Amino acid sequence: MRILFTGGSGKAGRHAVSYLVEKGHRVLNVDRVPLDLPGVENRLADVTDAGQMFDVMASYAGFDELEPGEGVPKFDAVVHFAAVPRLLLTSDNECYRVNTIGTYNVIDAAVKFGVRKIIFASSETTYGVCFADGERKPDYLPIDEEHPVIPEDSYAMSKVANEVTARSFQRRSGFDIYGLRINNVIEPHEYEQDFPAYLADASLRRRNIFAYIDARDLGQMVDRCLQTDGLGFEIFNVSNDDHSVAASTSELTETYYQGVPCREMGLTETFYSNDKAKRLLGFRPEYSWRMYLGG
Ligand SMILES: NC(=O)c1ccc[n+]([C@@H]2O[C@H](COP(=O)([O-])OP(=O)(O)OC[C@H]3O[C@@H](n4cnc5c(N)ncnc54)[C@H](O)[C@@H]3O)[C@@H](O)[C@H]2O)c1
Repeated sequence: MRILFTGGSGKAGRHAVSYLVEKGHRVLNVDRVPLDLPGVENRLADVTDAGQMFDVMASYAGFDELEPGEGVPKFDAVVHFAAVPRLLLTSDNECYRVNTIGTYNVIDAAVKFGVRKIIFASSETTYGVCFADGERKPDYLPIDEEHPVIPEDSYAMSKVANEVTARSFQRRSGFDIYGLRINNVIEPHEYEQDFPAYLADASLRRRNIFAYIDARDLGQMVDRCLQTDGLGFEIFNVSNDDHSVAASTSELTETYYQGVPCREMGLTETFYSNDKAKRLLGFRPEYSWRMYLGG
């Protein structure tokens, strides 16, 4: 597929882009900074500028596309990752502005250019646990896509607003628009760098509901979304199968989730349910920290 990918230079994006290129897709990266990856062209643009987003939707993805002399080819899909990726980076209102206006502009331009598959990055923070003031427990476990989303911070608020925006664009267009409630993204080098501390102290992962998503598995998730047509508007949790800590499910519920309703779960089964992605998309995470630190 010919894909316009926003935010492909970032932590999550560069792994997802690289996965998509390996799968044979053609990717144009739209970001404020370039991604240095063979086979991927960059277009430096700001997602908060509607004019620039309309321009890039009708952009060549490389000089080779000038050769046929048939004009600019159409994008088959848009993947939108560009954002301020958490609170406490910019002012709260700037985070909200960039994320909501950026998402509106990207989806608006994509829909008006007839791009029938749009995937956008939402976040685990929508559930309100991650950036709560103090400790907030989930309403029930494992958290699935039906769990209420009433966060307290501007970053997560922007992601909830984006999901509403996307659902409305889907209703008008009838296109496929899938939102990914991505858990904490882990790059391959971060297993050895960060996980020893998580294994020593599970509380470091409480705000992530003890879950994580390998950056390459996130790439697979995006590819599954590209391959699966006809779902309309859908939201998916994205996580790996196991906890990001060594403690078992029962040890974690005993220590952190007393009184929280919890169905019967596996020994190391994630509290951040990825069942829907498996059921509707065939998502099969391949990585685990246990492959790096022995478990
Ligand atoms: N990293 C995580 O753990 C995590 C978890 C859940 C959701 N997400 C979401 O995934 C997406 C990617 O996150 P990330 O961790 O790779 O963040 P990142 O900051 O590493 O990457 C974001 C990219 O977007 C670009 N960008 C920012 N503002 C832009 C603008 N106005 N115009 C064009 N490009 C702009 C940046 O240059 C950067 O390359 C974000 O939407 C984020 O909210 C990330």
